[in-house]
Amino acid sequence: MYNSTPLLLLIIFVGYTDICSAEGNKTHDWDILILTQHWPLTVCLQWKESLPQHSCNLKNFWTVHGIWPTKLGTKGPEFCNSSMHFNQTQLEPIEKQLEQYWTNIHNGSIYTLWKHEWKKHGTCAATLPALDTENKYFGQGLKWIKQYDMSNILGKSGIEPSNQGHTPQDVWNAVQKSVGKNPTVQCFVDPKTKKTYLFEIRICFDKNLTLTDCDGIKGPSDPTTGIQTNCPLQKTIIYPSMLPPEYSKPFYTITTPAYLQHSWLLEALRIIQFLQWVTL
Ligand SMILES: *[C@@H]1O[C@H](CO)[C@@H](O)[C@H](O)[C@H]1NC(C)=O
Ligand SMILES: *[C@@H]1O[C@H](CO)[C@@H](O)[C@H](O)[C@H]1NC(C)=O
Ligand SMILES: *[C@@H]1O[C@H](CO)[C@@H](O)[C@H](O)[C@H]1NC(C)=O
Ligand SMILES: *[C@@H]1O[C@H](CO)[C@@H](O)[C@H](O)[C@H]1NC(C)=O
Ligand SMILES: *[C@@H]1O[C@H](CO)[C@@H](O)[C@H](O)[C@H]1NC(C)=O
Repeated sequence: MYNSTPLLLLIIFVGYTDICSAEGNKTHDWDILILTQHWPLTVCLQWKESLPQHSCNLKNFWTVHGIWPTKLGTKGPEFCNSSMHFNQTQLEPIEKQLEQYWTNIHNGSIYTLWKHEWKKHGTCAATLPALDTENKYFGQGLKWIKQYDMSNILGKSGIEPSNQGHTPQDVWNAVQKSVGKNPTVQCFVDPKTKKTYLFEIRICFDKNLTLTDCDGIKGPSDPTTGIQTNCPLQKTIIYPSMLPPEYSKPFYTITTPAYLQHSWLLEALRIIQFLQWVTL
């Protein structure tokens, strides 16, 4: 009797690992696609806060961040097929449009974002024949950003980058009203100023590429309204307008005379520049 215990444990253990590996295959399943658009100025603000030397490729309209296949209630799947390499040549026919509407806001190669999105999300979306090549996947993003452009959708409800005082609920309502399905609204809370910036808006599609509610995707939601957002609902949010021209260049001015470098004066100038920018 005692002697059979290790065997029993072994059987249980083997059974357990079997379940795990079955679960393992299943993790590449997904339910819906999230189309995430982001507001370039907020992306840039976040990027510069992580390192002031960072620079941005700014746009004054919403751009695509990605198309993310998602299993409801969980994150991912991600990185589904390592043999589907990113090949930038395949994007040549649509590259000019991608540069406009699926921009790498961060400084660096224009291909960095596309490669990342393809490896992490595109290889999972590729189980759909409609999205099984780079050209189809990125081309779909272009179609959707034209059809569901948030600059236009928010504008129709009077939400423009220059006019402030809107709440996350106003933004959510504007999108819901326009697309007829529940979106997700994401904010960036500036760790330095504690101000809340409008950051991302997500709308969702089923496997027929038809709009569907984003309900059930993983992420925070407001406990009273059920609205999917990480924004504090009671606070107004900043939807920043165009940055001054100096912020489309590297943050540290390249033309600084050598004698000023690392001096207290330059530090003071940097702080003033920064304050001017964040208090826009
Ligand atoms: C897991 O993968 C194996 C082989 O690839 C397959 O036979 C099995 O049916 C899969 N299990 C599930 C639950 O998908
Ligand atoms: C991964 O991609 C390769 C190359 O496109 C393809 O032949 C293979 O079937 C894919 N594997 C899975 C599990 O989808
Ligand atoms: C990338 O795609 C181009 C155009 O389809 C093709 O000619 C080239 O062989 C591909 N490169 C790789 C490394 O697969
Ligand atoms: C962006 O710019 C910073 C500062 O010049 C540099 O350190 C960083 O490597 C750049 N990032 C990329 C991806 O090129
Ligand atoms: C997609 O469309 C087909 C045919 O109209 C339908 O049978 C199917 O249920 C739809 N799938 C989803 C996920 O809505």
